[in-house]
Amino acid sequence: MTDDDRPDDDHPDDDRSADDSDAVADNRGDIIASMPVREQIRLLSGRTMWAVRGIPGSDLEEIRVADGPHGLRCQDEPDGGGDHVGMAPSLPATCFPTAVTLGATWDPALLEKVGAALATEAIDQGVSVVLGPGLNLKRHPAGGRNFEYYSEDPLLSGRLAAAIVRGLQGGGVGACVKHFAANNHESFRFVADAVVDPRTLREVYLRGFEIAVTESAPWTVMCAYNQLNGRYCSEDRWLLTELLRDEWGFDGLVMSDWGATNDRALGIAAGLDLQMPGCRGAFDGEILDAVDAGTLAPEEVAQAARRVAQLIARAQTARPRGGGFNARNSAWVEEHHELARRVAAAGTVLLSNDGVLPIAEPASVAVIGGFATAPRYQGAGSSLVNSTRVDTVLDAARDRFGNPRVRFEQAVDPVTGALLPGGRDRAVRAASAADVAVLVVGLPAADESEGFDRSHLAMPTGTTELVEAVCAAQPRTVVVLCNGAPVEMSWADRPAAVLEAYLGGQAGGSAIVDVLSGDAEPGGRLAESIPVDMSDLAASGTFPGEPRRTEYREQQMVGYRFHTTCEVSARFAFGHGLSYTTWKVGEPRLTTSDDGAGGTAVPSGVEVAVTNTGKRAGSHVVQIYLDPVDTAAERPATVLAGWAKVHLDGGGSETVSIALDRRSMEVFDVEEGSWRLDPGRYLLRVANSVLDTEHTVELRVDGDAPSDPWGCRGLAADRRVVSAAPPPDRPFHRNSTVDDLTTTPIGPLIRRIVIGTARRSVRAELSDPGPALMRMYEQSALEMPLRALVALAGGGLRLSHIDGLIDLLNRRYGLLGRRAARAASSAAARARSLVAGRTDR
Ligand code: BGC
Repeated sequence: MTDDDRPDDDHPDDDRSADDSDAVADNRGDIIASMPVREQIRLLSGRTMWAVRGIPGSDLEEIRVADGPHGLRCQDEPDGGGDHVGMAPSLPATCFPTAVTLGATWDPALLEKVGAALATEAIDQGVSVVLGPGLNLKRHPAGGRNFEYYSEDPLLSGRLAAAIVRGLQGGGVGACVKHFAANNHESFRFVADAVVDPRTLREVYLRGFEIAVTESAPWTVMCAYNQLNGRYCSEDRWLLTELLRDEWGFDGLVMSDWGATNDRALGIAAGLDLQMPGCRGAFDGEILDAVDAGTLAPEEVAQAARRVAQLIARAQTARPRGGGFNARNSAWVEEHHELARRVAAAGTVLLSNDGVLPIAEPASVAVIGGFATAPRYQGAGSSLVNSTRVDTVLDAARDRFGNPRVRFEQAVDPVTGALLPGGRDRAVRAASAADVAVLVVGLPAADESEGFDRSHLAMPTGTTELVEAVCAAQPRTVVVLCNGAPVEMSWADRPAAVLEAYLGGQAGGSAIVDVLSGDAEPGGRLAESIPVDMSDLAASGTFPGEPRRTEYREQQMVGYRFHTTCEVSARFAFGHGLSYTTWKVGEPRLTTSDDGAGGTAVPSGVEVAVTNTGKRAGSHVVQIYLDPVDTAAERPATVLAGWAKVHLDGGGSETVSIALDRRSMEVFDVEEGSWRLDPGRYLLRVANSVLDTEHTVELRVDGDAPSDPWGCRGLAADRRVVSAAPPPDRPFHRNSTVDDLTTTPIGPLIRRIVIGTARRSVRAELSDPGPALMRMYEQSALEMPLRALVALAGGGLRLSHIDGLIDLLNRRYGLLGRRAARAASSAAARARSLVAGRTDR
């Protein structure tokens, strides 16, 4: 029986609490123990693109997982079709603002509501685990997938991710925290090695995951495609077991990113329980061989299988009372659209304003730009949502301000951002004739996607020309930016106001007009720095790095940590965002707690009175930064140590308590392998942004350890990275990419076939795929290692076929024999699904 057939009353004991799931799963452990190892192995990979196999002989039945972080991408193909790259259709769902916009809300309570809404839709569509949140850190603003991540700061990322997890799991649906770990760029993501020193890794790149795992107990974690310090994340025992489970106490299931498994047996031993997507057991033979050879303990297989059983038990136990799967009850459509609209406004950042905003009752408005009618509201790739509906700025402006007062000029092509013939002049005329001009511009979809990074931060030239021309013609010009990551803004001081709306989800158009008109306030604060020029950044030298290896040489000098420490100004600083009202933040009062471990008194919180001194209701983000001014370890100039988002009516006042993140006073002691308080003098700043300080208090922290040697005396001392040299290009191996084969006599031909097949398979699915999808496909096809073709072929290829092809490429004709012949015919027959990463049955 599939989930679709299951009657609603199939679970008479619906009042079981979620806590019962472990007991349920423990009982199911016996079932696993009595299964032959071959059957246990079968459970360790999915049945289809989205289905996790049920446990034979039990009532633990197949469950489904689906993307993604900001809206459901559930492909309703029970027989296993679908794709993981945003190509084939999915059921309609609410497209909430993407993570960049969610991050700018700084509002965990609101994100918990988004998580709960996602859970409702997931339950409705028969999905037990949602593949999100994604919380990789924004190492560099050119990261192609930055729109899917929250922040450049680990505390903010981790706490917001934890809120989404709580919302989802509180609604009876599992979360999947991804992509673990150091998946901070897209280029060559399947094979790239992120080379990160241990302190930076712990304090910056792992910290968000640590928070999400320890604060919200996600049911699942997804391991990343890339390698970390020379080892694939999918087979890194330190990462998946020693750190995640033993140190952080994670008790759920680890699944692979789609096609991320390298050596499957090593992966199981390392703690990777479930391989996704299903590939009809293509790796099972190798796992069994490893068990037979004694290199993989049967107990490790059983343990991974038990975790699959536990996940299913959790899903069954947490399912809400009376809630049948696949009710297809769309009662939530309107309610979630309204929530999406509120969240989008709450994540919209007012970067500058000379007083032109809000424009409550304009005599006339010129709305200019292709995005006003063809909105850019989400990114491309696996997170692509088939929205229940989409609002546009133009429609919303006409509704709000009255149709006759609103004039529209497209001026630029929404797909390319290029000026249309005569577009600039028409836009200038419309702007000059109006009371106020609103330019809705930003980055074309083709610039930002999963699967590739940007090479610069500029908007299309035509778009920048339009901004400059309209600002010159109309002093009351508001620039509204729609983009998933920062753009360079040489023109920033010309408009009367700049509103960073990011990617606001399906209700983003209405939310923008809500903020322009003042019906809603711009609730967002930057969760990332907007640089003046990309070349200023310390990380730019090695971003995205060599094809197979990216050294994080800038260490902790990421985002505001870089700007403040190296004294390089950003265009707009981390934490910045203006309000429509005014705020007064009172003197802070510190609270202190005793450190249970060493008896050391450390500040644990701050209390401040916040007053809305204006007449309008609004929100303010009180930010706490710690500057280590005289401490033992070398550290960034400042770190975010806590915050509170306060909502108050005009004239309202409230005293807020902000917990201080103890880790902000700690460093990771590499020698000892543990966190240590860093004793010394700190400045605690109560601020409106990382640069805009209201109050400063001096702190003294008594360390619980000698200050030296700690293995963290200076960042320079921490350049001990453990990384194998990248594998040689020749002989070819399972991790050779299609791109690597170009140097062989048949390489160019293979490349042409692969690219051609990729294009054809996209076009077969979509008449107008759009440039982002095409680019993602082509780049992914070239950068995909040969072994991932097997993992993604839905069972159409075996590892032996790939090995045969490799023999052929290495001219090992003696070994070649039948294997190569089989490989060639199979590869041709399945080329289409291989390249597309699509499972066809
Ligand atoms: C992405 C994941 C996603 C998975 C399934 C992968 O390509 O990296 O984030 O969850 O596909 O769609």
